[in-house]
Amino acid sequence: MTEVHSRRPAFGAVIDQLGLPGSLRLIPTPALVCDIDLLTANLARMADTAASAAIALRPHVKSHKSAYVARRQLEGGAVGLACAKLSEAEVLVERLLADGYEPRISVLLTSPIAGAASAKRASLLAERCDLTVVVDHPQGVDELSAALGISGNPLSVLCDVDVGLGRTGVVGPHEALAVVERIGQSASLRFAGVQGYGGHLQHIAGRDERRSAAGESAHRLRAVIETLESNGHRIPLRTGGGTGTSSLDIELGVLNELQPGSYVFMDREYRDALGDDVEGGFAQSLTIATTVISANRRDFVTVDAGLKAMATDAGSPLVVGHEQESQYHFFGDEHGLVSTGPHVTLGRGDRLELVPPHCDPTVDRYDFMWLVRGDVVVGVADVDARGCSQ
Ligand SMILES: Cc1ncc(COP(=O)(O)O)c(C=O)c1O
Repeated sequence: MTEVHSRRPAFGAVIDQLGLPGSLRLIPTPALVCDIDLLTANLARMADTAASAAIALRPHVKSHKSAYVARRQLEGGAVGLACAKLSEAEVLVERLLADGYEPRISVLLTSPIAGAASAKRASLLAERCDLTVVVDHPQGVDELSAALGISGNPLSVLCDVDVGLGRTGVVGPHEALAVVERIGQSASLRFAGVQGYGGHLQHIAGRDERRSAAGESAHRLRAVIETLESNGHRIPLRTGGGTGTSSLDIELGVLNELQPGSYVFMDREYRDALGDDVEGGFAQSLTIATTVISANRRDFVTVDAGLKAMATDAGSPLVVGHEQESQYHFFGDEHGLVSTGPHVTLGRGDRLELVPPHCDPTVDRYDFMWLVRGDVVVGVADVDARGCSQ
């Protein structure tokens, strides 16, 4: 069965041979490639982990930005989607609706927004889905309240709590109380709970080290929850967590909803950090296909995937199948260098696959991903919200 979830012009030669052995060799490179069976296994593994702990799963779509993957997550039991930015949510909601997805989609916007224009956009998005937004300052509450007016259903709002990352969130219980009380003063808003996302925890190497740091963050979130409860506020939703702390967050027991993202694809950075830990049990489903375009030198070849083909914040990619003997080095905007040697011979036209250093910003560089089984292209899926960081 082929899986074409793309509105872009298909590359004829490939589409003609969808499902035929060896068709992976036909795709124009550099290209984003997703092994559909490994993706399926990753989706099931996280869904099972959450379900067996009776904790809600709200996958973060910032990793894949694809309505195809989002729909599979929703149909696999996710309670909704987490989105980083308004435009990411706007585009994915519209694509899911256009594709005939019928249930009302629950969306959590995990970044605070600022300014009247963004608040207005949030109010419009709330007409298209069940929207919850996070706020970390009383002014943010006022902006939302003004944008919504008094008609319609109240918008659900979470208090974003800084659990140690320092990026967003109120810094402590006192500030949380100020935000929540301001929400309570607005007829157009409804306080729905707290978010505590520990981005600084996710890539800590070693489970014990990660657990101890995650414990400190959980403690900070618990302190806020206790203060709010002792002031008479109910906290129905406690959301946060990522791939690296998914099982730890369950053990720590403060969150009742997980919002992991990278587990769908994984990357070199997560592999290095998680190793054989239980949180690292997800398969590497995402690669970048590249072609050797020049092989005139004795010790290396040049491939067509360079700085523009992947995010570079997390070091170099791995060369699949030659992880030990070959190294990749960036060779400018358009090219990469892959070292060869006695055990690795590569020639002009050869294809290689690279494990991306960091999946989210790599995916954001591609309009679509090829879906494969082994060397067979079985479909293509748009990265619908590519570039949607507004
Ligand atoms: C707020 C928030 N939640 C969840 C995630 C998902 O984290 P991960 O991709 O490490 O699973 C992220 C990622 O940056 C995030 O910013």
